[in-house]
Amino acid sequence: MRVLGIETSCDETGVAIYDSEQGLLGDALYSQVKMHARYGGVIPELASRDHIRKTLPMLRQLMEDSGSPASSINGIAYTAGPGLIGALLVGASIGRSLAMAWNVPAIGVHHMEGHLLAPMLEANPPSFPFVALLVSGGHTQLVAVTGVGEYRLLGESLDDAAGEAFDKVAKMLGLAYPGGPRVAALATQGTPGRFVFPRPMINRPGLEFSFSGLKTAVRNTLIELGKQAELTEQDKADVALAFEEAVVQTLVIKCRRALQHSGLKTLIIAGGVSANKRLRASLQEMVDTQRSQLFYAQPKFCTDNGAMIAYAGCQRLMAGQHEGLAIFARPRWPLESLSSLRQSAAPSST
Ligand code: KG4
Ligand code: ZN
Repeated sequence: MRVLGIETSCDETGVAIYDSEQGLLGDALYSQVKMHARYGGVIPELASRDHIRKTLPMLRQLMEDSGSPASSINGIAYTAGPGLIGALLVGASIGRSLAMAWNVPAIGVHHMEGHLLAPMLEANPPSFPFVALLVSGGHTQLVAVTGVGEYRLLGESLDDAAGEAFDKVAKMLGLAYPGGPRVAALATQGTPGRFVFPRPMINRPGLEFSFSGLKTAVRNTLIELGKQAELTEQDKADVALAFEEAVVQTLVIKCRRALQHSGLKTLIIAGGVSANKRLRASLQEMVDTQRSQLFYAQPKFCTDNGAMIAYAGCQRLMAGQHEGLAIFARPRWPLESLSSLRQSAAPSST
């Protein structure tokens, strides 16, 4: 089955074609980041308008480049949520309309399911069951996964998501949006040990996260430093390193606990923050001590992309799931409410 995937949930237009026999045939991404950067964050209305401009031309180009004419496409997958409602509606409307015109089924994909399954696109994919750490701009969740659509939430952030904390700290350090990669780059110049920030919630037994206290600790440190003298680049790098270490160590501790509690031996990480090199390296060290394995997607499939949506949609369409003719998008959508592929003997509409 050959599936066209469309991702428009936030500030990236992603398109891809995934073939269940041949794998990923092509993908393209357009980031609106320059447009939003001067506002310091994503402006929803501008995002929607830009998705309208970009999606169809990108789809045309992708189909041409990958040698996939409309007649070869057997299904369409679009991100139906969670995300910005206007942005989601662009992809949903285009996806649903193309499906109608080409007389193929369409499926609305959960954005976080897309992230969660992205490591499956790699040459050496993980096999079920596994623990998934989802770390993006909007989510920080630990999930026990036994199959596509079989998700049990083990713990999540009570306040900011990990990516959001990176973005807010970046702003405090005067770095442009999106801040995660910039904080990570600055941290490579940092002096280890100059600052040590709290590791939030590690002494509590559960698998919940909280990053707002850490953010406040960073803010207070910057204010104190600023009282003494103007902040130097070295000060900023030292703060960035201490912040990144605190986030990474917190995530590592919770992942180790999730592996131990669940008895599972495989950990996957997904979402924008899973591109973070320090996180990958520290988790690798941890899983080695647990005789477990770590899997993640290549960096371009950690952040938002169309390939993960095409892949996730293909799994569901192959199981016989698809939508009715209505166009639907959900700004909020709990991951645990998704249906398992095992329940989908008959076509269903979500
Ligand atoms: O998954 P994603 O592309 O979009 C959402 O679904 O939210 O994640 C974006 C988030 C942003 O907060 C960004 O700052 C963060 O992922 N991010 C990183 C890195 N690359 C992206 N955070 C830390 N280190 C990185 N290398
Ligand atoms: Zn995302």
